[in-house]
Formats: sequence, C-alpha cells, structure tokens
Amino acid sequence: MPTDRLDEVRRRHASAEAGGGAERKERQHREGKLSARERIELLLDEGTFEEVDKLVRHRCRDFGMDKETVDGDGFVTGYGLIHGRPAYVFAQDFTVFGGSLSEMNARKICKIMDLALKTGAPVIGLNDSGGARIQEGVMSLAGYADIFLRNTISSGVVPQISAIMGPCAGGAVYSPALTDFIFMVDKTSHMFVTGPDVIKTVTHEDVTKERLGGGLTHNTVSGVAHFLAPEDADCLRSIRELLTYLPQNNREDPPRKPTQDPTERQDAKLDSIVPEESNQPYDIKDIITRVVDDAVFFEVMEHYAKNMVVGFARMDGRTIGIVANQPAFLAGCLDINSSTKGARFVRFCDAFNIPLVTFEDVPGFLPGTDQEFGGIIRHGAKLLYAYAEATVPKITIITRKAYGGAYCVMGSKHIRADVNLAYPTAEIAVMGAEGAVNVVYRREIAAASDPTAARAQKIAEFRERFASPFVAAEQGYIDDVIEPHETRPRVIRALRMLETKVDTNPPKKHGNIPL
Ligand code: HXC
Repeated sequence: MPTDRLDEVRRRHASAEAGGGAERKERQHREGKLSARERIELLLDEGTFEEVDKLVRHRCRDFGMDKETVDGDGFVTGYGLIHGRPAYVFAQDFTVFGGSLSEMNARKICKIMDLALKTGAPVIGLNDSGGARIQEGVMSLAGYADIFLRNTISSGVVPQISAIMGPCAGGAVYSPALTDFIFMVDKTSHMFVTGPDVIKTVTHEDVTKERLGGGLTHNTVSGVAHFLAPEDADCLRSIRELLTYLPQNNREDPPRKPTQDPTERQDAKLDSIVPEESNQPYDIKDIITRVVDDAVFFEVMEHYAKNMVVGFARMDGRTIGIVANQPAFLAGCLDINSSTKGARFVRFCDAFNIPLVTFEDVPGFLPGTDQEFGGIIRHGAKLLYAYAEATVPKITIITRKAYGGAYCVMGSKHIRADVNLAYPTAEIAVMGAEGAVNVVYRREIAAASDPTAARAQKIAEFRERFASPFVAAEQGYIDDVIEPHETRPRVIRALRMLETKVDTNPPKKHGNIPL
C-alpha cells in the first residue's frame, strides 16, 4: 500500500475528528456542553461505534463555502450497541457551522434512518444546531423535509428518540417532535419555532429564550419534552435506561430482565394506602412502586400534567406501560393535558407490544370554561380512542373512584380491557354520591322536614348501593374485587395468561384519531 494513500486516509479521518477545531470545542465545554463525539461515546457501549459517512463533504460553492470544508460536514452518524443491542445514532456537531443542517449531512441522517428501518433498530438523534445551513438555502430545507418523511414512516416501526442538547429552532424542531421521546438538558437546550427576537418584532412580547423554550418550559408547560436532565451525561444515561424497556422494533416483544423480586410477593401496606375518606388524597406512585419489580418505576413526563402518571416498569421481568390517575394532584381529574399525555403513551405502548396496566382513581373530567373552550371533548376523545384501539394486553385496577365518562375511558372492560380488578374501596358510579343525590332527589330533599338529614341519608343510601365495586362485579364488568395486598401476584398471573393474546382491528388505511 503506498504510504501517501494511507496518509490521506489518516489525514481525512483526523480532519473529521477535529470538527470545527479545538477553540470551538473548548467553547462548547465552557458552555457546559459535550462535543458530538463525546456524547456518542457516552451513549453507546464502549468501543462499539461504527461511523458512517465520516468523509462526506458539502457541495456548496456560494458565499465562500468552497474554501470551508470539514470532513464529515459537521454531523457524526453511525451505529453501535446499547446494552448489547444495535442502535443508530446521529449527533450534530455545533463546532462546525453551528451544527447547521446541510444537503449532505441531511443525507447522512437519512442513510442511517433507512438502515434502521430495514434492520429494525432504534434511532437516536442528538440535536445541537443553528438550524438550516443558511448558505445552502432550499437544499437544506429539502434535507429537513427528507428527514421529516423518514421520521413519519419510521413512527411505530422502530423507537425514535431525540435529545436536545443545544439550540433547536425553527422548522428544525419538527424532526424531534415527530419522534417518540424528547429529552432536554436543563439550561443548555432550547426549542422554539420562532425565537425571542422574532417574537419581539411581531408581538412586542419580551421573553427570554430560557422561558420561551428551555428544558423546564417544555417539561412543565408545553408538554413538548418527556424528560429533563441536569446535564449531558445524565441525559445520555437516561436514554440508555429508557431503551432497556423497549423492543428493537414493532415486530419484537420487549426484552425480559430477570428479577429476584418474587412474583408471589404480597404487600400488607397496600391495604392501607387508599384512605377511608373518599376525598382524601394519596400518592398513586406509592401503590405503583409496591407492585412492580424491585420498586423501579421509570416515569415519563414526570413534570407535566401531574394528575396523570405514565411510565415504564417491569413485572415478572417483563416491560409494562403504566397509566395511572394521581389523586394527589387535581384529585386525579382528567383534563386536556393529562388526556393527551395519556393518549400518546398508550399509543406508544400499543405500537411496541408493551402491555398496559392502568391504576384508576378518577372523579371525572375537570369542569370549567377553560377546559370546554380548550376542547376537552376533542382531547379527552384521544385518550378514549387510544385505549379502545389498543390491542396489547390491558389490565385495569380500580383503586377508588371510577366515575362517569372517565370510568369508560380508563381501560374499562367495554373498550376491550382484558382483566379488570377493583379494590374494596372502589366506587364505580355515574358521579359522586353528593352530586348524584343533588340531581335525583332535589325535590324530595327540599320537601323534607329536615333537609340536611334527608340529604345525608340519601347520600349514604346512594353510596351503599352504587359507590362500591359490587354492582359492577355483579355485571361482570370487573372480573374480581381483590384485596390490595395481593395486587402484584394477581397482575402477574393476568400478564402471564395474556402473553399469547392476539387481537386485531379491522383492515383500514388508518383510523382518524381526533387531533
Ligand atoms: C450556518 C450557522 C448557522 C446556520 C450558526 N452558524 N447558525 N452557520 N447556518 N443556521 C454558525 C455561526 O455563523 C458561527 O460560525 C457558529 O455557527 C456558531 O454560531 P454563534 O452565533 O457564534 O453561536 P451562539 O452565539 O451560541 O448562537 C447560536 C444560535 C445562532 C442561537 C444558534 O447561531 C443563531 O441564531 N443562528 C441562526 C439560527 C437560525 O435562524 N437558523 C435558521 C432557522 S430556520 P463561526 O464561524 O463564527 O464559528 C430553520 C428552518 C428549518 O432552521 C426549516 C425546516 C422545515
């Protein structure tokens, strides 16, 4: 082999590895951010990264760009292993033209996305970019659209995960938005369609980029992001952890993780978590962590719409998706935000063969003009639709309230839940006893010699008859009333029974979920 050929290979590889140079890399570190290559190293199992298209160069000749080429063109793309399983990754290198997207580095992303789809493995995008490469104009916009198409085609086939680890602005936000999960890093990441300057010009509104599109905003206010990490390394660790719950693609079942936690384990504390008084709050996560393997619950969207709790856990070593009302927040009412949060999670689990376990304690939909004007009808319908169309194993445990439409929505038997259990504290009714009595016995109570006593008596009668699990159990709408301490073994037995479940929806191009 002529040495000059080898030298050329080494020179080009070194140029790609240097990216935008030491000074820009140093600036990246000063701002609390890792470089693209450092991020990939932390994300993948050590030494497993195989880079693709390291030698690609842009083809732009305008604005003096012909004199400014960097091998790899600023994006690092390729594949490697995460916990021993293949994954595809791309990382935008902010040190090269601000991580901007060019025609050629868009092609690099598309190449690995196509491979991921063909081989059935997740794609992880590490975003840190000034957006479309301004010098390339429409060539860059075309690149974005090519990626958006692949995000959409891959949706529900392979898991797609985005980490925002720097700027992500303009139309560039829509690639992460089309993926399954968005991680953001606190303080160093920002996402917005239009930035503070444009907002100031158009609406005269003053807003900082942190408040407009920082990690906290998107995790607490907008619901755009699913996870918030204090810094890059934690973010990458969390992505690795999330993947341990997921199958590689929609044709696989999620991986099993052996556990020492006995499947028949009972927990006496569960018998006293739900308070006697039906409007006393309690933390549904106390129940979740006592039931799942090793008390490990990987919560998704922890900071958003806290009246609904969603996330992954394992039972009998097998991944489950948990959806739960949270009585400790807004009494666990369903509202617009919790409905969309729940619906998206249910659809993800259904797409990737993850059984759903629902813990239900819901007094109904949140009343008010905010909710009605905001379209709670349309948004609540999303959750109903998601549950109804899901064909994965579905198990529901009613811990306390299952009132009104919310009873139907939260994994009821009628929308194809397979196993429905209730605690003795369950109250399954059209509405709470007080509200029901006000409607049904209004005239009778008003005419009574002691209206207060008459009302109290009617409430007690109503509660005795309807605010219990037994009417529903008599109808077979719930399969059993169980003692809370036996929740874990009962759910595990149901999951085992359902392991071979096959259910389908009629052939169609696709349904029309209310958006
Ligand atoms: C080319 C870019 C660039 C871009 C940044 N750079 N953005 N080069 N195209 N879009 C370059 C800068 O010239 C600079 O080069 C280096 O990257 C670092 O940028 P700085 O401005 O020094 O960094 P910082 O102060 O941290 O600011 C980061 C920034 C800012 C907020 C991202 O650079 C910025 O506002 N960029 C433009 C953002 C934008 O409007 N993009 C288009 C959005 S619209 P040197 O050589 O000095 O290091 C869009 C449409 C997508 O993306 C449509 C999809 C449908």
